Amino acid sequence: MIGIICAMQEELKEIKAGMEPDGELSYSGVDFYLGKLEGQEVVCAVCGVGKVFAAICAQTMILKFHPSLIINVGVAGSLSKSLGVADIVIARRLVQHDMDVTALGVPRGQILGSDIQYIFTSEEIRDALFSSIMMLNAQGAFGKREVKALQGTIASGDQFISSKGQKQLIVEEFDAIACEMEGASIAQVCYVNKLPFCVLRAISDSADDSAKMDYPAFVELAAANSAKVIRHFLKNR
Ligand code: ADE
Repeated sequence: MIGIICAMQEELKEIKAGMEPDGELSYSGVDFYLGKLEGQEVVCAVCGVGKVFAAICAQTMILKFHPSLIINVGVAGSLSKSLGVADIVIARRLVQHDMDVTALGVPRGQILGSDIQYIFTSEEIRDALFSSIMMLNAQGAFGKREVKALQGTIASGDQFISSKGQKQLIVEEFDAIACEMEGASIAQVCYVNKLPFCVLRAISDSADDSAKMDYPAFVELAAANSAKVIRHFLKNR
């Protein structure tokens, strides 16, 4: 069984639409949707926004449903000039940009008392997701324009990034290409549970002063693109 976690209903909408449902169960305040998607057994959930909700959901999913893999899917702010709205990022590694124990000499993003700073995703899954994007582009599945796909660092934190200053700090410190609010937390849960995982996000905004306007305008388009990739990935697995 494959676990799919989205932060918000908008992000799960097009994924759930394709599911043959086989029941719903609630644990830890999260609704888990069971069923088949593109021929694969899946358990899907909307975890809520931020790292705490994301961790609760991922750990509960692991304990209750024993997925063999978790993929976090949804939207992100772009931190790269090469990534515009609707383009797609596959995380090679994730870091919590708001984890800061630098006062005690710990590198920014590293969790005190552990060696956890950057957490790497499954290479096999990220390559398969990348291939899906290339195939969907070849089919014209994203509309008039092909989407760009990059693999790189995603930085997560409990902040909606919406200024040049905030964005610059994250880019300079972590060389990240996208920011969101859950991925690194799901990564940490999967890491401690020794479970393969990946994070796939489509760009809804550029995480600067225009983000407040762009996010509501493009969240649906971005979410639909990320859902297309996951469905193609499952169909070809
Ligand atoms: N998710 C989508 N856009 C974001 C942003 N600008 N900051 C944090 N999370 C996001």
